[in-house]
Amino acid sequence: MRLLNIFPLVVSATAAAVVRDVSAISVDKDVPSSAGPALLESYMSYSIEFCYFPDYAGNKSHPNNFSNQLLDNLADIQGVKPYIRVGGNTQDYALYNASLEYAINGTVIPSKSVDYPYIIYIGPSFFESYATWPKTKFSHGFNLGKNGSEGLETLLNTVPLACKALQDGKLAYWELGNEPDLFKTSSQGPVRPSNWTEQDYVDEWLAKSRKIHDALAKACPEMATEKNYQYLAPSFAGLTNSLDPVATWKDDLNTDKNIALNSVHNYIGGATQPGITLQGTLMNHTVTVTKVKSLSNLSQVLAADNLTTNIPFILGEHNSLYNEGAPGLSNAFGAAIWGVDFNLYAASQGVRRQHMHQGSDYRYASWQPVETENTTLGTKPPYYGNVFVAAMVHGDSDVQITDLPLSNETESAYAAYVGGKLARIAVVNLVEYNYTDSDPTAPRPSASYDFQLPSEFKSVSVQRLLANGSNALSGITWDGYSYNYELEGGKPVRLGNVTVGETARADKNGVITIDVPYSSAVMLTVDHGN
Ligand SMILES: *[C@@H]1O[C@H](CO)[C@@H](O)[C@H](O)[C@H]1NC(C)=O
Ligand SMILES: *[C@@H]1O[C@H](CO)[C@@H](O)[C@H](O)[C@H]1NC(C)=O
Ligand SMILES: *[C@@H]1O[C@H](CO)[C@@H](O)[C@H](O)[C@H]1NC(C)=O
Ligand SMILES: *[C@@H]1O[C@H](CO)[C@@H](O)[C@H](O)[C@H]1NC(C)=O
Ligand SMILES: *[C@@H]1O[C@H](CO)[C@@H](O)[C@H](O)[C@H]1NC(C)=O
Ligand SMILES: *[C@@H]1O[C@H](CO)[C@@H](O)[C@H](O)[C@H]1NC(C)=O
Ligand SMILES: *[C@@H]1O[C@H](CO)[C@@H](O)[C@H](O)[C@H]1NC(C)=O
Ligand SMILES: *[C@@H]1O[C@H](CO)[C@@H](O)[C@H](O)[C@H]1NC(C)=O
Ligand SMILES: *[C@@H]1O[C@H](CO)[C@@H](O)[C@H](O)[C@H]1NC(C)=O
Ligand SMILES: *[C@@H]1O[C@H](CO)[C@@H](O)[C@H](O)[C@H]1NC(C)=O
Ligand SMILES: *[C@@H]1O[C@H](CO)[C@@H](O)[C@H](O)[C@H]1NC(C)=O
Ligand SMILES: *[C@@H]1O[C@H](CO)[C@@H](O)[C@H](O)[C@H]1NC(C)=O
Repeated sequence: MRLLNIFPLVVSATAAAVVRDVSAISVDKDVPSSAGPALLESYMSYSIEFCYFPDYAGNKSHPNNFSNQLLDNLADIQGVKPYIRVGGNTQDYALYNASLEYAINGTVIPSKSVDYPYIIYIGPSFFESYATWPKTKFSHGFNLGKNGSEGLETLLNTVPLACKALQDGKLAYWELGNEPDLFKTSSQGPVRPSNWTEQDYVDEWLAKSRKIHDALAKACPEMATEKNYQYLAPSFAGLTNSLDPVATWKDDLNTDKNIALNSVHNYIGGATQPGITLQGTLMNHTVTVTKVKSLSNLSQVLAADNLTTNIPFILGEHNSLYNEGAPGLSNAFGAAIWGVDFNLYAASQGVRRQHMHQGSDYRYASWQPVETENTTLGTKPPYYGNVFVAAMVHGDSDVQITDLPLSNETESAYAAYVGGKLARIAVVNLVEYNYTDSDPTAPRPSASYDFQLPSEFKSVSVQRLLANGSNALSGITWDGYSYNYELEGGKPVRLGNVTVGETARADKNGVITIDVPYSSAVMLTVDHGN
């Protein structure tokens, strides 16, 4: 369906748009050399905190169908279901108890963390959670943190369970240890002496991964072959903690040539760090650029030193604010828009896949998989940002994203190329619009953007990520769809009160003009038919 030229309608729906005092943003027809490298399939992926994986996935008798529905939605939009990394701090706490009759016995020690247990035993049924989501690829996180005999026993006892659960194409990669660059300094208590070096880490990783390989060769021999036996590593928390990533690769972490992906973690700031705000921290493109540049610089240094040749760089765990996010910030619509900006910018700078971290009751979670005393089961605002990213990277493994720099630090734009050809444009407006704090009689402001399209494109279709404002916790839509649990258990439901089916036509000079309300994002799909 095509509507007539609609932009007068959009303008009348909001205040007169702020017209940007710049010439039209020119968009190349063929992928420019400034674009990021081709993304891996399923760029929009997740990381799930190890101890909360049973909540998210359920088990054989009680599969979590709501979670599966949300993942299937992303599969439909992205083309591939998200990859799931199962890991996090609790992967290095978990010990195996063969007689435990349920998945996990976790004990919270409030002085360590109130958000997840510190003493953890997993039973055999933990591994049932790998059976509940069809057509999903996982990475399983083995415990490196617990050393000594109990750690080693857990490793050797869980290899057969994990490999049997992940047989038949479910395994993407293994992982051994979460954020070992914090092992000496962790706020949950150090697990290595202060003189533990990069070389000590590498030696330990190699020794234990070889034990995993031997155990695999016995339990699941087909998974011990060179092709199928691969890791995410080193899964450091950052670039400047107590182990240096460059020194670690130089100390030959990849001696056994089994590291498939160079994984690093990232957060923008801390949940209780003073001075963090939506506008100043998350809805701030300058902050995003600074963070992503430091990550992409690391990947470039490693590549230039020939340390990670043919090993793609990914964010194996990331989200807005560490310590599980802050209420009012990480769970608000503004954080969804942050996620769009951050993930598209990262894609333009060499991050090839990203896994947004999830956990029950986490403030930054995209959804809450089970009802708890503190959090209602349901789809949360960040999920809608994930949907936008999935739509933008739709394709297979030939999608490239390029940054289209704008002048203001409260806005950004990107183009997506599929097979080298322009497919889509995204515009993200990051000006905070707090609807409870705004004059209810004044129309919502918007900004107007002009794009100079390649001459063969005469029109675009327009899909919007919308909510009442950056502080909205509900009522979010993507292209008029709600994915809320209360409607149809997370299935897409088109709401009647949101305009959809918009198109915009280029003027005689090939320029399209698009209005973007403050605190919203829009995706334009070029119409190859016209
Ligand atoms: C969950 O999905 C499975 C597989 O489609 C189905 O057999 C089961 O009935 C569903 N459970 C619920 C509670 O809907
Ligand atoms: C292991 O599980 C059994 C059965 O629930 C329990 O009796 C035992 O105390 C558990 N062991 C540990 C170390 O938690
Ligand atoms: C499966 O999940 C249900 C619901 O959470 C739980 O009651 C049951 O104990 C679980 N079964 C096993 C074997 O862990
Ligand atoms: C669960 O773990 C706690 C703490 O280690 C322990 O005291 C308790 O006995 C465990 N329960 C079972 C059923 O294993
Ligand atoms: C295990 O951890 C302890 C505590 O930090 C450390 O002293 C010891 O060297 C480690 N042992 C091994 C074998 O890694
Ligand atoms: C590291 O520190 C431990 C004590 O925590 C000591 O036993 C060990 O000898 C030290 N190693 C080196 C190489 O200095
Ligand atoms: C964005 O962050 C930068 C760097 O921290 C800061 O200088 C700037 O004031 C912030 N912008 C807004 C709009 O808050
Ligand atoms: C990396 O490899 C390239 C190509 O083989 C070579 O030209 C370059 O000198 C190497 N760089 C380093 C730092 O070894
Ligand atoms: C719920 O929140 C309260 C207050 O922050 C906290 O004390 C309690 O442990 C939380 N409950 C759960 C299950 O996390
Ligand atoms: C939005 O405005 C309300 C009312 O002034 C305020 O309580 C709230 O903190 C604001 N939200 C954000 C995310 O700034
Ligand atoms: C540019 O940013 C400022 C705040 O930093 C904001 O007031 C202004 O509306 C923005 N302009 C546009 C076109 O987004
Ligand atoms: C549209 O309807 C939904 C559900 O009835 C509501 O939550 C949302 O706020 C409405 N949106 C607008 C823009 O009125």
